[in-house]
Amino acid sequence: MQIFGQHFNRNWLIPLVNRPIDKITGNYCGKNYTAKFIITNYAAHIDAHFADIVRGNLLGFCTQSEVPFNFIHFGVVIEFIDAIELTLHDDELMLDEGLRELIAAVGAVIIKNAYMTDKLRKLGHRNRFPHLNFHVDRTANQPTHYSMYARDPFDEEQQHPRKSSTLFIPNIVGHLQGIRDGLVDPLKDKGVRATYRLFENDPVNELIDDLIIEHRWDEPHGVGEISMLDNTTLLHSSYYRNVSEKGYKIGVRYLA
Ligand SMILES: [Fe+2]
Repeated sequence: MQIFGQHFNRNWLIPLVNRPIDKITGNYCGKNYTAKFIITNYAAHIDAHFADIVRGNLLGFCTQSEVPFNFIHFGVVIEFIDAIELTLHDDELMLDEGLRELIAAVGAVIIKNAYMTDKLRKLGHRNRFPHLNFHVDRTANQPTHYSMYARDPFDEEQQHPRKSSTLFIPNIVGHLQGIRDGLVDPLKDKGVRATYRLFENDPVNELIDDLIIEHRWDEPHGVGEISMLDNTTLLHSSYYRNVSEKGYKIGVRYLA
């Protein structure tokens, strides 16, 4: 099988960048897929949502708050038409190089209708994150600072769609929302925190695909799904759409 990163890498992003609102189609290892950015021109969304704090100078605000922000478009979703088995990291837990390039460029990568090989599916652990508790799993000091989440389509529990989702935001949005929610002092607090309870007074549903990326894990029965991020640039949390239904634990592994 072809190495994932020989196809999906920074060069693969070029046609998407050239026409960012379009969905592209492609073929990898004989399987057709579509791909698109999740939120295009993301800085404009931050400027609009936090206009009272950023005041039209997001770059200056990032420098002053010591929270870097580099994404032009936020998140990419790759959806295979027919199910595909993928090798996304090696036995030493090194993430595919092409995926590291995609994550560096767009922050979060979601792959639908895909699952990892038998051997790789058995790795990692299972977890369910607290509702709207945005956090990092790993720090920049740990070599394995990427998190990969997976729904195993062959697993008794995970073959079913999940009742709760995973939310992704860039560090700067965590910082800005922390200011709005009164958790962060814009004059004194620098850098991003490892955990915040955010958006508790906001209509989160309305912010999805505007400010927040949601991985709903709601593909049909028997469909595999995978997502990943770099804990040094993004925060994530669970989102219980129905607070009484927390959903099953999702597969988690940390990669270098
Ligand atoms: Fe987590």
